[in-house]
Amino acid sequence: MASPKVQDAVSDSPAQSQEQHAAPPNVPTKEFFDTKGLDYETTYGHNAGLLKAIDKLIALLRPGCRVLDLGCGTGKPVAHTLAARGFQVHGVDFSETMVELSRAAVPSGVFEQAHYLEWAPPPFSTQDQNQPEPEKFGGIVVSSSFYELSREQMETLVSRWRDWLEPGGVVLLVMVGAEDVPATKPEMYDPDGRFARGIPFRFMGDDCFLYLFTRAGWRALLEEKGGLAVRELWAEAFVPPTGADCDSEVNSFFIAEKEK
Ligand SMILES: C[S@@+](CC[C@H](N)C(=O)[O-])C[C@H]1O[C@@H](n2cnc3c(N)ncnc32)[C@H](O)[C@@H]1O
Repeated sequence: MASPKVQDAVSDSPAQSQEQHAAPPNVPTKEFFDTKGLDYETTYGHNAGLLKAIDKLIALLRPGCRVLDLGCGTGKPVAHTLAARGFQVHGVDFSETMVELSRAAVPSGVFEQAHYLEWAPPPFSTQDQNQPEPEKFGGIVVSSSFYELSREQMETLVSRWRDWLEPGGVVLLVMVGAEDVPATKPEMYDPDGRFARGIPFRFMGDDCFLYLFTRAGWRALLEEKGGLAVRELWAEAFVPPTGADCDSEVNSFFIAEKEK
C-alpha cells in the first residue's frame, strides 16, 4: 500500500519533513479512507462503547466549549453528537471524502483537510487584535485515529496538546492496546515494552499492520507527553457487523484531564 503524500508545514528542512511525516509501512492511507467514506460509519458508527464514552466526555466538558476531533472521519457519531449538545466542533482529517461527509453531517462544525502533523490551531482574535493567540480547546477527541502514525509521531502530537488545551480541558482517547490484539508477538515490542510494531490486522477488506502502545503505554503517553491526568480507563470489545471483513477489537477508552 502506498504511503500518503503529505507536505510539511512544521519542520525546518525537506529531509526532516519526509522523515517526520513518513507513515509506518502498510497502514491505511488517505486514499484508502477516501474510498471507504460512509462504509466506515456503517461498520463502526454504532460502536456502543464509543457512544457511552462520548456521553461521559460531554458530562465533563465545559458547556459550549470548542472541541477538537482529530481524525474526525464521517463526523458521526463523535462530532455530530457533540454539536447536537451545543459544543463547537473543530475536525481535522486528511481524507477529502471524510471532511466532506463531516461538513454535511455537522453544518455548525469547522472541518479542515490536513495531516495531523501539519495542522496547528488557527489564530483567533483576543482583546488585542495585534496579539493573536492560538485557539484553546476545552476538549480533544482521538477516536481510533492515530493508527497511521509512528510512535514518535504520536508522541510529538500529544506533546502539542499541552498548548492546545485550556486548563481543566478533557481528552477522550479511544485506542486498541497492543496486548489486546491476538496477533501481537513478543518480538514486536519495543525494549521498554510499551509499544508494538507491525501487528497484522484485517481492516475493512484490507490486510494492514498496526503500530500500537499497550494500555500502560497509552496512559504514559497521555501523562508524560500530554501532561494529563488519566481519570478513567476501561475496555470494551467491539465486534464489527457480519460481512464487514474486519477483525474484532478491544477498545480501550481513556478520559484524561489537564490541571485547572
Ligand atoms: C479509523 S477512522 C476513525 C474515524 C472517527 N474518529 C471515528 O471514530 O469514527 C480514522 C480517521 O483518521 C483519518 N486519518 C488517518 N491518518 C490521518 C492523518 N495522518 N492525518 C489526518 N487524518 C488522518 C482517516 O482519514 C480517518 O477518517
